[in-house]
Amino acid sequence: MKEPIGVFDSGIGGTSILKELVKLLPNENMVYLADSANAPYGQKSPEKIIALCKKNVDLLLEKGCKLIVVACNTATTNAIAELRRVYVVPFIGIEPAIKPAALGTKTKAIGILATKGTLSSALFTKTSDLYAQNTEIVEVIGKGLVEFIEAGDLLNPELEILLKHYVEPMIAKDIDYLVLGCSHYPYLLPLLTKLLPKGVKIIDSGEAVALQTHNVLKSKNIKNNSNITGELLFFTNSNTNTLEKIINKCFKTTKNTVLKTL
Ligand code: DGL
Repeated sequence: MKEPIGVFDSGIGGTSILKELVKLLPNENMVYLADSANAPYGQKSPEKIIALCKKNVDLLLEKGCKLIVVACNTATTNAIAELRRVYVVPFIGIEPAIKPAALGTKTKAIGILATKGTLSSALFTKTSDLYAQNTEIVEVIGKGLVEFIEAGDLLNPELEILLKHYVEPMIAKDIDYLVLGCSHYPYLLPLLTKLLPKGVKIIDSGEAVALQTHNVLKSKNIKNNSNITGELLFFTNSNTNTLEKIINKCFKTTKNTVLKTL
């Protein structure tokens, strides 16, 4: 089935998931929607997040998407149940990778950096209660981080100061895993590696989401069986600067890409 896979996020963060999707499914056509005009979602109410997600889904369905990846932890944890209730298209969501961290930790302390919306969601509480009973989870809200990432301002010294402040309580608890619970945060990897002690493993959910997408495409028999490299269409409702840089750096070599403003 040559119809595209739709992927959306509150902004450019979901491109960290898109990279994994492109790597695993190079022949699929994909449409990426960055709702940057409404970023960040992390401080918004569940009702507002659901309304924004429905708008994103409607737009992706207009583009003929056969499956939708909610490449945003905040949107998944607050809205995916409602999306699945309302629409017939299959959804793949992204949740913080608490399970592998809880299974792998030796110090019995793991850190999670995510938005307020994700950490306060019922779905997150359920997952952490299920997998991390004997482990201390040091939860930190990454307030203000998404704004730097959306602006592509990753070398700003103020970002480093803010992030240092966020990882300090985790280091104090001797974490050996840091879970990145927001799809924007993989863009902070260089800084996080600098700020955290050497042995701390940093994990995100990108690869797991790509694998799950592949499984669902196969089980629903909607894979694109063409052997031609798929196309990648980007939409943003904000300025294109950061997204354009990411496209040039990460996607131009693997896919035919087009960027449009809504
Ligand atoms: N990228 C989103 C996530 O994975 C959140 C960013 C935001 O607050 O909009 O949670």
